Amino acid sequence: VQTAIGVAHSKLILIGEHAVVHGQPAISLPFPLVGVEAVIDYVPGSVKIDSTFYHGPIDAAPESLNGLTSCIEATLEHLDMPCEDLLIRIKSSIPPGKGLGSSASVAIAVIRALFSYAEENYKMEDILKLADISEKHAHGEPSGIDTLTITSELPIWYKKEEPIDLIEPEGDFHFIVADSGRMGDTRLAVESVTKLIRSAPKRIQSKLDRLGEITHRARNALETASKHLLGQLLNEAQKELEALGVSDAGLNRLIYFARQEGALGAKLTGGGNGGCVIALAQNEMHSKQLCEKLRRIGAHAVWSFSLKRKTD
Ligand code: MEV
Repeated sequence: VQTAIGVAHSKLILIGEHAVVHGQPAISLPFPLVGVEAVIDYVPGSVKIDSTFYHGPIDAAPESLNGLTSCIEATLEHLDMPCEDLLIRIKSSIPPGKGLGSSASVAIAVIRALFSYAEENYKMEDILKLADISEKHAHGEPSGIDTLTITSELPIWYKKEEPIDLIEPEGDFHFIVADSGRMGDTRLAVESVTKLIRSAPKRIQSKLDRLGEITHRARNALETASKHLLGQLLNEAQKELEALGVSDAGLNRLIYFARQEGALGAKLTGGGNGGCVIALAQNEMHSKQLCEKLRRIGAHAVWSFSLKRKTD
């Protein structure tokens, strides 16, 4: 059997995180600057993982990898393959725990590699169903937006229980992503919001509704090339996320600094309480300058990327 390879990019939530878990829409972006490659070879013995986070047989893997190992077992069962004689090498450039969908990207790259190893074509729904096994471990009650974005090449408009909708931005938007350096725990952050809803249902529901409303307006801003409006909406979303208790001092520092340096808007991205921020720059040149400044004030990693209008 030949070596098989599976790849997956990462994802960013532009707006609507947390609210999306509770039925509001969110907009997410495929983020191809970091990703995962899984390489599978025939190696006699048990199924083994070789990665920076674990090296050894899947049945001796630490509990933190239960999601991934269950996902591998379920994929092998789906493919009617015995759980043996495989070495799965995983290389990832996605920093884990930073809101960039690292867990879902690893799962999807591995599932794709296993399908390729078995020489089976996959249906998108198979990939999503199998990746969801891993996501449930990582996130508790995932909305499903991470796996969908990681399998998409275009920005996504997503609302639970509704078919996904692809967004085609009008005009060019230059974004910056900066890593605060602190790891976040999406499962804990999602649970903390659920607890808040129980303790103050009306107050918190109005914040979630507000996030939904801001997200609708953000879609409109993307589709009408309204950069300044999109920036304002990112700032408004951040205010609600702070009120939900999912932003922290490290994220706020980068967010306020970016705004002070001319970003049109800035907010956390993903689960929060650690992880990354996303900022909208004025133009390409400003984006480069802002990246440099964020690096200088201590952002652990900074990426700049743009959403461009399709020219065909
Ligand atoms: C995580 O990328 C986004 C959250 O809304 C959780 C989810 O939707 O599963 C925080």
